Amino acid sequence: MSIRLSNGSEIPIEMHKVRIVQKVRLAPARERFRAIEEAGYNTFLLRTRDIFLDMLTDSGTNAMTDNQQAAMMQADDAYAGSESFYKLADAVKEIFGYQYLLPAHQGRAAEHLLAKTFVKPGHIVPMNYHFTTTKAHFDLAGGKVLELYTDEALNTQSSVPFKGNMDLDRLRAAIEKAGPENVSFVRMEATTNLIGGQPFSLENLRAIKKMIEPMGIFLVVDGSLISENAYFIRQREPGYEKASIRDIIGEIMSIADLCYLSGRKSCSVRGGMIATNRKDLYEAIRPWLPVYEGFFTYGGMSSKEIEAMAVGIREMTELEVAGASADAIKYFVGLLESKGIPVVTPPGGLAGHVDAMRFIPHVPQSEYPAGALAAAVYLTSGIRGMERGSVSMDRDAEGNDVPSDLELVRLAVPRRVFTMSHFQYAADRLKWLYDHRTMVGGLRFIEEPPVLRFFAGRMEAIGGWGEKLAEAFEKEFGADC
Ligand code: F0G
Repeated sequence: MSIRLSNGSEIPIEMHKVRIVQKVRLAPARERFRAIEEAGYNTFLLRTRDIFLDMLTDSGTNAMTDNQQAAMMQADDAYAGSESFYKLADAVKEIFGYQYLLPAHQGRAAEHLLAKTFVKPGHIVPMNYHFTTTKAHFDLAGGKVLELYTDEALNTQSSVPFKGNMDLDRLRAAIEKAGPENVSFVRMEATTNLIGGQPFSLENLRAIKKMIEPMGIFLVVDGSLISENAYFIRQREPGYEKASIRDIIGEIMSIADLCYLSGRKSCSVRGGMIATNRKDLYEAIRPWLPVYEGFFTYGGMSSKEIEAMAVGIREMTELEVAGASADAIKYFVGLLESKGIPVVTPPGGLAGHVDAMRFIPHVPQSEYPAGALAAAVYLTSGIRGMERGSVSMDRDAEGNDVPSDLELVRLAVPRRVFTMSHFQYAADRLKWLYDHRTMVGGLRFIEEPPVLRFFAGRMEAIGGWGEKLAEAFEKEFGADC
């Protein structure tokens, strides 16, 4: 929630109180330099002890509620027939309106099951935009991911409210070209992650369904960030200003044929699932669940997480929960913008996104500007963000680098974890870095895994800029900062 102050400005206001805290430490710049060198300039390879604010992701890092923690104490660990599963199934029925549930250990496990069941060699899978794990699974199954976003989606300076929408003409043309029988399904990702957490509208979702249903193609929603997308629909789509988050989620699900999700985001747990009302889809996937995940009533999740997920699904429909990170992000992005730092607008869900191509335009895409900037942000602040650019794209079949559409540094805002002073600190250090941006150079791989290379790849700073940047920072702020 946001609240208006008497001077007319708006601030995000916490509709909760903090009763358990976790200590963090700000390692000095020298130590941070050693840590990022050891991590091969890959923020995934840093250790928590070296991180001040962990803005890598909101995945599995949202604050849980007292009710979620309490529910975990009631877990039924029965291998088969666990009562915890039936509680989750009831919550899914109540909020999504879906009667069939397949639990999975996390979102990518749900993607694996969908790929295994529906994506065949030569198929196309149209979507608004890919997510890294989605693309990896659909590619491995022999399918081709087609991103059919609108022209505005990749414009980082925009005021278009639904940059996660699909372009309907492109969708029709793609299906006509491939033939409907060669389309696995159409996938719409809620609060589209890799283009800056941008939502789709209900109008767009409805139009997609209307087009593909007569062709016998089904509609899949990646609902990992479903409550945030519903929050944006309430704020931005005419006619929904007074609708509840619960009604909007229900409407999304009534249009979609199937929803899968990572429970680590909107649901504030660790786990995943697939849910649908389509018996045919459910029955096609079901045999693979015990093969890859676990028995039908736990699917690789712990019973404790299943209990917490049942609570989380209901809680994510509360307005102040659905908007907790969106409103904080709006404030954070506003702070960065006011300091002239190039960010993605409008502010979306899950994170504030810094546009590396505008921040350090002197670093060519072949030297991974988003990766370099993520490392530089860590060096100058102790804040760990995530590269969402060309490092996050794997090489093509010929071994060539695939330049990413966007080069973003994602500074994730897990729900109810950070405070306003954290955002003010982050904006201040980013401003210092922006003023010293010419010191940031490019990166080069020294170790590169063949798939999802961003997780484990190691790089080096071309020309040794990392040490010089740390030295300049220390000169200005002292040895302890
Ligand atoms: N779909 C979306 C939209 C996601 O954002 C993620 C994960 C997944 C699927 C995969 O789910 O991690 O539970 O296996 N996103 C995380 C992130 C990793 O940091 O944005 P998972």
